[in-house]
Amino acid sequence: MLTLSQVSKNQQVLAFLTLSEENLKTSGYTKHDIFHVQLVADRARSISRAIGLSPEEQEMAAISGFCHDMANCLSRRYHHLLGALLFHQIFQSEISSGRVSPYEIGIISQAIAVHDRAELELSHPVSAVLIIADKSDVRRERVYPKDLDLIKRDIHDRVNYATRSSRLRIDTKKKKITLILKIDINFVPIMEYFEIFTERMIYCRKAADFLGYKFGIVINNFKLL
Ligand SMILES: [Fe+2]
Ligand SMILES: [Fe+2]
Repeated sequence: MLTLSQVSKNQQVLAFLTLSEENLKTSGYTKHDIFHVQLVADRARSISRAIGLSPEEQEMAAISGFCHDMANCLSRRYHHLLGALLFHQIFQSEISSGRVSPYEIGIISQAIAVHDRAELELSHPVSAVLIIADKSDVRRERVYPKDLDLIKRDIHDRVNYATRSSRLRIDTKKKKITLILKIDINFVPIMEYFEIFTERMIYCRKAADFLGYKFGIVINNFKLL
C-alpha cells in the first residue's frame, strides 16, 4: 500500500509541485503552494476518517490531496486530467513491482481527475472527499503579498483576502458537512462571495450528496445553506 509519507518524499512529485506553484504564481493565480496541498491532504484524511472510510481509503484520500494540483505546470485548464496520468506514471513502478495494487493507483488517479471539473460522475468516496477538502480551502494566506489596490482588482484575490478563517464541521448524526467561514464584509460583500463560491459550492454539494451527507455553509454565524 502506498502511503502519504512515501508520496510526499517522492522527488518527481515534489518537482512537479514546485513547478506548478511557480507557473501559477507567474500567471497571477491564487497561491497553490506546498501548504495548500498539505492542508488538502490533512483535510481529506480527517473528512474520510470522520465519515468512517477504511484506513486504506483515508490514506488514498490524503495522497490524492497531496498530488491533486501537481500538473498545473503542464496546463491550468487540464491540470486535473494530466495530474491523474502523471500520478499513474510516477507510481507505475510500484504496480510493476507488486508493492501497490493497480486498483489503488486507479482510485487516486480518478480522484485527481475529477477534482476540478465534472469530467465524470462521482463513483468513489475518495473522489468526493478530495473535492470537499480542496474547494473548502479559502483563506487570506492564499493571496500573494501585494498592494491592496491590486488585490481589490481581482475577485478571487478579494474573496480569499476577505476570509479570516474557514473550517469544516462534520456532523455524522445529522449527516451534514458544513463549511464555516468568517469573512471581512468591509472588504468583500457577501453577494460577491457567492459569485465566486456558487460553482464550488455546487460541486461540494454534489460530493457531499454522494457521501450521503448534506452540505451547508455558515458565513459570519449566518446559516446560508
Ligand atoms: Fe486543482
Ligand atoms: Fe487545489
